[in-house]
Amino acid sequence: MAMDAAPQPASPGKRAAIALAITVALTVAVAAVFGEGAYLWIKAIHVIAVISWMAGMLYLPRLFIYHCDAEKGSVQSETFKVMERRLLTIIMNPAMIIAWVLGLWLAWTASYFTSPWFLAKLILVLVLSWAHGYFSASVRAFAEDRNEKPPRHWRLVNEIPTVLMIFIVILVIVKPF
Ligand code: HEM
Repeated sequence: MAMDAAPQPASPGKRAAIALAITVALTVAVAAVFGEGAYLWIKAIHVIAVISWMAGMLYLPRLFIYHCDAEKGSVQSETFKVMERRLLTIIMNPAMIIAWVLGLWLAWTASYFTSPWFLAKLILVLVLSWAHGYFSASVRAFAEDRNEKPPRHWRLVNEIPTVLMIFIVILVIVKPF
């Protein structure tokens, strides 16, 4: 007797599109319900998303450092693969999408697109997003036992999100120029 096929999880691209659509719909709903007061609510959710994104950006390279020391094919190595995939797909990808959508909404609402501090923040956030893409590709490399980079590489890479985060927060809060 033929077995029913197990339901396949949606592809990362499809999940990202769904997360994007939900975020945009919720942003429009919050803006419609709260009117003038929506700005602070959206900003609060933006900061919550940013904290979740940064938690992953700071922890994932740490997992890579430990993963390097685990023998390929060992139980430990397989456990790290699951932890890395879940951290990326359940926390980091949706958090990054929410941070981007709400951040752009805030900038558009407050007309920040010509402010030098905002453009500088935007450049640093683009670099942070590039680092996210690099981590995402690295999760795939570890999952396929293709990583050749030593722990020292991941220790160095670990500093990139930290340094970017410090300058991004100073730019958006102090607005020095
Ligand atoms: C993903 C793209 C991002 C965009 C387009 C964006 C844009 C913005 C905008 C326009 C504001 C409102 C500023 C104000 O009302 O004074 C804001 C607030 C804020 N953003 Fe972002 N942001 C992004 C990502 C980030 C990241 C990665 C961080 C931290 C690492 C961050 C941290 C903050 C903080 C702490 C605030 C609150 C500032 C305040 O109320 O004084 N943002 N963001």
